[in-house]
Amino acid sequence: MCGIIGKAGIGEVMPELIKGLEMLEYRGYDSAGIAVIHNEKITRCRESGKIINLREKSENNREELTGNVGIGHTRWATHGKPTVENAHPHISNNKKFALVHNGIIENAEEIKKALLTSEEFYSQTDTEVAVKLISKFYKTDVISAVKTACKELTGTFAFGILCSDFPDKIFATAQGSPLVAVKGATGCWITSDLGAINEKSGEFYRIANGEICEISKDSILFYNSEGEEIKKSPERVSLTEETVNKGGYEHFMLKEIFEQPFAIKKTVLSFADKNSIKLENVNIPDEFFKDKLERIIITACGSAYHTGLIGKHVIEKLCKIPVNVEIASEFRYSEPLINENTLTVFISQSGETADTLAALRLCKKYNAKTLSIVNVKSSIIAKESDNVIFTYAGKEIAVATTKAFSAQLVSLYALAIFIAEKRETISNQKKQKLLNELLSLPDKINTTLLKTTDKAKALSKKIYKSTDIFFIGRLYDYGTACEGSLKMKEISYINSQSYASGELKHGTISLIENGTPVIAIGSNTEVFSKTASNIAEVKARGAKVFLVTDESEKDASVFVDDIIYVPSTTPEFQSSLLVIPLQLLSYYTAKRLERDIDKPKNLAKSVTVE
Ligand code: AGP
Repeated sequence: MCGIIGKAGIGEVMPELIKGLEMLEYRGYDSAGIAVIHNEKITRCRESGKIINLREKSENNREELTGNVGIGHTRWATHGKPTVENAHPHISNNKKFALVHNGIIENAEEIKKALLTSEEFYSQTDTEVAVKLISKFYKTDVISAVKTACKELTGTFAFGILCSDFPDKIFATAQGSPLVAVKGATGCWITSDLGAINEKSGEFYRIANGEICEISKDSILFYNSEGEEIKKSPERVSLTEETVNKGGYEHFMLKEIFEQPFAIKKTVLSFADKNSIKLENVNIPDEFFKDKLERIIITACGSAYHTGLIGKHVIEKLCKIPVNVEIASEFRYSEPLINENTLTVFISQSGETADTLAALRLCKKYNAKTLSIVNVKSSIIAKESDNVIFTYAGKEIAVATTKAFSAQLVSLYALAIFIAEKRETISNQKKQKLLNELLSLPDKINTTLLKTTDKAKALSKKIYKSTDIFFIGRLYDYGTACEGSLKMKEISYINSQSYASGELKHGTISLIENGTPVIAIGSNTEVFSKTASNIAEVKARGAKVFLVTDESEKDASVFVDDIIYVPSTTPEFQSSLLVIPLQLLSYYTAKRLERDIDKPKNLAKSVTVE
């Protein structure tokens, strides 16, 4: 995801745009840029890397960047490398328009081909297509040009637009990406996140899908998708510290769901490059993995335990070593059959969970090797483990974990590749394929968010009045089903069960009534056909089946009531994409039920008691 900001006001706008972009940096910082209008001329300044690089470059060009109206953008690359050439804002060939964009334009290539007869392109971005399309339709009316151009686009977008013929205005529109307009003390703003601007009014306007917004220093006007002016009432929010930190999202959980591309990118880049996995805080000799390691035990609680269920299959497949996954609160009171040749792995977002900590201390008594996967560096589990893999999900506020869960998953993938390489149980070719896929996961998670949010929202409308919901899957998909079910239970309070789909017929299928919703998870593996048989079994008993699957399973829709596709990736990593619509489904279901989503009843973010 990317961050957009714009201001039409009094006083120099450049410093305010840079400051706002620094607040948006968590949304990604591959590159950044601003464009300012002065004397009916648009001037751009763009730079790759962090905002600090842009700050320095813009301050060195302050004289050219003078003006009271401008737009800014911090980029999380989806189309085209994070270079200056691909950095936003992008401009039309006649330099009349500058545009910043958050989202993905799915038919960009098709439109680009048509435009190439009359327009030159300088970047590999989908965004450049949008600004050139608007310029093509522009005669004298920007609203009309934007309206016409957007009707040609498919995908998701939030645009901030400058036109040098209207030097005192900014135009904006949205389709599936968040964008708000705010009337402030020294001018009017557009921004992806309320938290990026320091306005105390608390009054803001959400730009709804298809609406076009026109701001100047003292006015905010709206037009519908037909170009007719409409009146909108502002929403009011108390800009408490918490609201500001929600960055314009209604709940921390939704913000953290959308932070996943960036959180996973930071985590993956902390241990992977295109050649290898480096685990800097794992000090176990190579020969232990090759000659001594007898088995691996993964132990954790809740969602962290579910990553273990998925990680088990990845590690066993790549490392050819038996893996047991244990619920920490059970394991801590067992008499485990472990020794110095056992690797015990503890997964914990907080690093403070009492049951997981107790399991760690038990394993140390048996001289097992201990390795924890933790999101909080200063936590006690990190401190007491001999080896640690840190996740870089950032602070997770919502009690229901999402970005930390995803960061734990990719850390398990990295551990599997790391051990498999030491044990020489995968070829260099397989290792390279896995590394490439691991590095592409953040982008694919971003695409999944953009492609499945509306589907998940629509599906929540079909199930939010249910009293029972089933989640089913096999192998990797069983762990994903467990996580989807837990998310649904803990924030919507709807009773839900996750089941190994082959197990249903051994009793529980008796609970399937006419209309019972069943969410089936179907990754593109050899067992998909078996899951399909289980779907047929429940459908035969009246269930409503909603399948979440890999986009390569195109013919899957024939036997289910609805389907949500996620991008393809290697089977070992599909859970990272399949879980995204399940997180969104639970969020929108809970929202329809007006639950306390960030602080569900009876729960706590870290369970530090038995
Ligand atoms: C997940 O949404 C829950 N908040 C809960 O299951 C959590 O995963 C579990 O309590 C473990 O917490 P930890 O990762 O901090 O150890």
